[in-house]
Amino acid sequence: MPANTPKPVAASAIDKHVYKVFPNDMNAQNTVFGGMIMAKCDRLALVVAERHSASVCVTAAVDSIHFRAPAKGNDTLLFNLSLNRNWGSSMEIGARVEAENSYTGEVRHILSAYFTFVALDEDGKPTQVPDVLPETGEQERRHADAGIRREARLAMRNQIADKNRVV
Ligand SMILES: CC(C)(COP(=O)(O)OP(=O)(O)OC[C@H]1O[C@@H](n2cnc3c(N)ncnc32)[C@H](O)[C@@H]1OP(=O)(O)O)[C@@H](O)C(=O)NCCC(=O)NCCS
Repeated sequence: MPANTPKPVAASAIDKHVYKVFPNDMNAQNTVFGGMIMAKCDRLALVVAERHSASVCVTAAVDSIHFRAPAKGNDTLLFNLSLNRNWGSSMEIGARVEAENSYTGEVRHILSAYFTFVALDEDGKPTQVPDVLPETGEQERRHADAGIRREARLAMRNQIADKNRVV
């Protein structure tokens, strides 16, 4: 298959990756340490980016991390990640983490976040990635929403650069 053949979202997505919470995952508040959840999301988002691009990828930016509810001792965390959209060398990956009480089956939404990864060539330079193909209504919505977020990111970057430009 040529390297630039478009790929469906499902080809790189991670669905319900399970992590069982143990006592060493807790913070002083006796809820799950948020930094551990963020680090696991970053690692799994990397896998999504590298599956899609078939290249070494690096985290360029993380934005909109929202902790919606605390995860508790003995919860089972469920990590869901998928590629929302690609541009040139960059890709936005959405992460949604849920906490399952495996005794009752109750599931709570814990975290939502968006990661931007950049694919690199053998010289460590940004390289073009294949287009991602949204196939469901939900994937189409995420694809469109990612465009709005990218515009907002670029607008903010330009606004700050303009403000700091020496005249
Ligand atoms: C990410 C990195 C490779 C971008 O390199 P660069 O020389 O700035 O490249 P460019 O300006 O050509 O940008 C390349 C792409 O990255 C995107 N990008 C760069 N910085 C970004 C940022 N902060 N947020 C979102 N996207 C960003 C650009 O929009 C561009 O996207 P496109 O190709 O889809 O249009 C470089 O900044 C880097 O190596 N950063 C450190 C990464 C790292 O160490 N991560 C932690 C460990 S994995």
